[in-house]
Amino acid sequence: MVTVKVKGLAVLFSALMVASAPNAQSLQQPQTADASLGKPLYGQNCAVCHGAGLQGQKNWQRPDENGILPAPPHDKTGHTWHHDDGMLFDYIKLGGAKTLAIRGVADFNSGMPGFAETMSDLEIWHVLAYIKSTWPKQIQAVQKEQTQNARPASE
Ligand code: HEC
Repeated sequence: MVTVKVKGLAVLFSALMVASAPNAQSLQQPQTADASLGKPLYGQNCAVCHGAGLQGQKNWQRPDENGILPAPPHDKTGHTWHHDDGMLFDYIKLGGAKTLAIRGVADFNSGMPGFAETMSDLEIWHVLAYIKSTWPKQIQAVQKEQTQNARPASE
């Protein structure tokens, strides 16, 4: 009996430690993410807006008459590689508005839909792995560093 209780407490305690760890890590792409599986998923789900060649929409830095930004490129000319894995994952899973709301930017009128209903978490990582695989090594390294320095969104 006593050992069961102690064990329960220990589990609870380590869970709290993780929650309050000063170096808590943001999400990171898992080893199982596979760019070759991500490529067709990108074609089916993302190319319609972000372009088959990841080139984005025309004048992507200029909001339209409703204040919504066009889809940016995902190649090295865009800003995808400026963001850490956790932010990119959220943007794809939850969509733009919710991702920014979690990070304290309320009421952002985003044209980026969330894919939580249509893609699994691993499929989202496959697509991200594909996008990253098109970047030059140096840019991949910068984005990796962003991810290593990132804090979880809830902090
Ligand atoms: C209906 C059009 C549309 C589709 C489909 C779409 N996006 Fe987007 N996406 C956008 C727009 C518009 C933005 C810029 C929105 C903003 O400012 O929030 C954006 C922004 C993003 C961003 C954040 C900006 C950046 O460069 O980091 C990521 C990441 C992203 N999209 C990935 C994807 C992926 C991956 C898919 C496919 C699974 C996809 N999008 C499908 C329209 C779309």
